[in-house]
Formats: sequence, structure tokens, C-alpha cells
Amino acid sequence: MTIGECEEGDLVEILAIERDSYPTPWSPNLFLSELSNPVSRMLVGKSLESQGIAVVGYIVFWQVADEFQLHNIAVRRDLRRRRIASRLLSHAIRICRPEGVRWVTLEVRRSNRAARNLYENFEFTVKGVRRGYYNDTGEDALIMSADLQQVPVEGLTPKQRRGAKNENIA
Ligand SMILES: CC(C)(COP(=O)(O)OP(=O)(O)OC[C@H]1O[C@@H](n2cnc3c(N)ncnc32)[C@H](O)[C@@H]1OP(=O)(O)O)[C@@H](O)C(=O)NCCC(=O)NCCS
Repeated sequence: MTIGECEEGDLVEILAIERDSYPTPWSPNLFLSELSNPVSRMLVGKSLESQGIAVVGYIVFWQVADEFQLHNIAVRRDLRRRRIASRLLSHAIRICRPEGVRWVTLEVRRSNRAARNLYENFEFTVKGVRRGYYNDTGEDALIMSADLQQVPVEGLTPKQRRGAKNENIA
């Protein structure tokens, strides 16, 4: 997978993933406004498939002063659990760290176990709850946060990290 900045031409595929991923997907106009927002960064993962280069996932985050606000991350349904989201998030952290960005914050649906596990692998922790935050289901949002300068950049579980360490020793 290659990871690069999003271009307008990627939006058709991004929108298909978005609509398949969320009960209330972002609109085309919202993605367009992110592309022209100077604090917003959109990274796209692409891979070579039989029909050519295809978008496999994307991440949208804002860099505001020393804060990294994660606004969207999604992976094509048929390609999930292959560490694509982990690699997108790692890439974004690697970009922001040298720029002095410190705090990462995000909101996640309480029921979104996949996303919560992903963030926990990067040692993000729950710092608060917004009750009934999501209009579509009335579900709570958990506010997760971490010190971007301290998080494990590869986003491995503690067990995976121990495995990688043992491999290095052997
Ligand atoms: C959340 C999402 C982005 C994860 O993408 P992904 O590429 O499948 O994630 P990864 O393969 O990098 O998984 C990393 C870790 O996240 C956790 N995880 C991912 N999917 C999971 C699932 N279905 N159930 C439980 N844990 C899961 C696991 O800990 C996983 O590590 P492991 O596979 O080594 O156990 C993807 O499920 C998605 O697009 N969901 C819909 C959009 C969404 O909810 N975005 C988050 C908004 S806050």
C-alpha cells in the first residue's frame, strides 16, 4: 500500500467506502471543504488491484496548534483486519510528531469496538463521555486522547510488541 495526500479525483472511491462504513456518512461537499481547509489533512491508502490502482482507506485529521484531531478513518470493508487503518494512523503520527504536535483527540461511538481497539493499540485512553452525542442513534461518544510524542507509533498490541521484540533479540 502507498499512502499519499488525497486529491479530488480520489473522492468517488472514498465516498463509496464512506457510505458503506457509517450510518451517517460525510457528504461530498464535506469532503471537498476538508480538501480546501488549511488545517485539514487527508491521507489516502492505495493499492494495486487487478483493475488498477484502488483506494483502500483514508484518514482525515486536523492539525490545530499542538493538537491532532482525528476526524475520520475508514477502510474498505473487504480489506479490513489487514492493518491498513493502523498504517494510516502510524503515517499520520509520523508526519505530526516532528512538527511538535502533542495531543491527539478523537470521538468514537461507544459501540465501535473495532475502532476503540485500534486506538487502544496506540495507547489512546478514554478521557470523557459526550452523552447522546450522535443524532442518528442517540449513542454516546467517548472522547479518547493521548500524548502523540509518547504513543507507540506502530500501533501494535502489547502481545504483538513483545513478539516483535523477541524476533529482534533472536
Ligand atoms: C475501524 C476501522 C478503520 C479499522 O480498520 P482496519 O484496517 O480493519 O484496522 P486494522 O487492521 O489496522 O486493525 C488494528 C486493530 O484494531 C482492532 N480491530 C480492527 N477491527 C476489529 C474488529 N472488527 N473487531 C475487533 N477489533 C478490531 C484490532 O485490535 C486490530 O488489531 P489485530 O487485527 O492485530 O487484532 C474499520 O473497521 C472501519 O473502517 N470501520 C468503519 C469506519 C469507522 O468506524 N471508523 C472509526 C470512526 S471513530
